[in-house]
Amino acid sequence: MTSAAKHVLLVGFMGSGKSSVGRLLAARLGVSFVDLDERIAREAGRPIPAIFADEGEAGFRDREFRALSALSVEPPSVVACGGGIVGRDENRRLLAELGTVVYLQVSVEESAQRCGAAEGRPMLSGRSDDAVAELLAQREPFYVEVADVRVDTDCSDADAVADLVEAALEAQNSRADRPKTDHPSTKENE
Ligand code: S3P
Repeated sequence: MTSAAKHVLLVGFMGSGKSSVGRLLAARLGVSFVDLDERIAREAGRPIPAIFADEGEAGFRDREFRALSALSVEPPSVVACGGGIVGRDENRRLLAELGTVVYLQVSVEESAQRCGAAEGRPMLSGRSDDAVAELLAQREPFYVEVADVRVDTDCSDADAVADLVEAALEAQNSRADRPKTDHPSTKENE
């Protein structure tokens, strides 16, 4: 993330609340909201499960990379990214360039509760609970790697998570605005 960063990008596992929190946050920040999966589906002219069925996961990931890249020429927005966006190296590089990345953390149990049946989520369908837990464990280091800000969502509704994200972004901005002193300890002794 740089101080010239513009987008706020929400990442996290399925069911972490990226879309609902993103909508609330965008309204509060007065910027537009982008749901990357909705865009991908609109551009493909069919829903995500159909893209997976027709083009496989690799085809979906190519579309996801293109949709993410396109944000670089767009005005500031809050972006809800799909849960698997952190899997590709080039996506993680892009996320860092595009703005402030917020990792919405969710436990595998809470994710399962929120997602319910795997309907509409090809990465969950046919996967055992253990396999879903493994997928989250595989992705966790990538979420942490890209995150400028981390917020735990397990015990909070979307509104409360949006509060926490807003506060964390404000704290981050005020840290970025603070003038740098080379040797604070020396200053204290002046
Ligand atoms: C995916 C998550 C989905 C969607 C696609 C793949 C994943 O988005 O991008 O089904 O790999 O975790 P949500 O995280 O919004 O469900």
